[in-house]
Amino acid sequence: MGADRSPALHAQGDPRAARKGCRGDPGRLDDRFATARLNGLNLSPRELRAFRRVKFLGCGSAFYVGQIGAQLVEDLARMPADAEAASEFRYRNPLIEPDTLYVVVSQSGETADTAFAVAEITRKGGTVVGVVNAVGSTIAREVQGGIYIHAGPEIAVASTKALTNMAMAVAMLALHLGRLRDLSVADGQRILKALKRIPDQIQQILEADESIKLVAKSLAQASNAFYIGRVRQYPVAREGAQKLKEISYVHAEAYPTSELKHGPLALIDDQLLTVAIVPDDDLTERNIAAVQQVQARGGRVVVITHPNVDLQGMDVERIDVPKSEPELDPILLIIPTQLLAYHAALTLGHDIDKPRNLAKSVTVE
Ligand code: AGP
Repeated sequence: MGADRSPALHAQGDPRAARKGCRGDPGRLDDRFATARLNGLNLSPRELRAFRRVKFLGCGSAFYVGQIGAQLVEDLARMPADAEAASEFRYRNPLIEPDTLYVVVSQSGETADTAFAVAEITRKGGTVVGVVNAVGSTIAREVQGGIYIHAGPEIAVASTKALTNMAMAVAMLALHLGRLRDLSVADGQRILKALKRIPDQIQQILEADESIKLVAKSLAQASNAFYIGRVRQYPVAREGAQKLKEISYVHAEAYPTSELKHGPLALIDDQLLTVAIVPDDDLTERNIAAVQQVQARGGRVVVITHPNVDLQGMDVERIDVPKSEPELDPILLIIPTQLLAYHAALTLGHDIDKPRNLAKSVTVE
């Protein structure tokens, strides 16, 4: 990704790390043109406009960030976009298209499956850029350009602040691509303003930690958990379930909310806790209806939502998250899912810093 473009920065906490993620030299948030300045991509506006699709690749939490990124690119740039697990991509002799921009996402920059995907794309003549934290890492060196996320060293095995910064970086990429196409100045400014608010909003969520701790006690008692979210919030659900598994060892699965009725509802009973992501958006009523279906089968529910959502007196545990713009809501909605997993792990007496069977960087196949 080039030493000139992105010096390593160090951060100690989520809001501070998020603030640094928006900085660069010069700043990445460009008020004048209502866009993001991403010189490290090493691609001219003309080259970027020539791409017809975007494909994100990553593993685990980085894959979920890719899913968030794909939705953002479709929303803001109106380009077809998708995300795939790099660990699968490498085994399926993928077609590499010259008019697709490949974006690999990796905190460590050393994940073998993701590095292999980079090599495969490069070997077949594709264009691949990185969204990476570790400066000078293998992936950072092998991509053609990219965005360093400036989250600072991430000590925990479970990815947290890096995930937030990776999500902000893919949002900046989507904004940048959007403003090279049809995204209006007004919409560009709307997204920029929302990105700038995120660090303070993260702080607000961290200040509500005591109430999240209480909810986590219910989660710690559950033998199984479902995480459900619709469209933009499905990756939020996936990350929530992943973190609960990783550090609390409570069995958890994520489903798109709309899929519940196609099978998983069969498992609902009073031993299964459902964490439902219910943002204030055009799908709120549908999400509330899904929560009611779970409750009608005796299931307990935790709802992660926005302050002005009326849960119609439902008997649920509720966590409120500050509202962003709809496209960016997932970035904030993810944070309580991580805090829930953290407190559930503590309640169960697990060593969060040494989760069993996991390594910080998965450098093997
Ligand atoms: C995150 O909590 C996990 N430890 C894991 O899913 C991780 O995100 C994945 O292995 C990818 O790592 P990377 O971002 O360093 O490439």
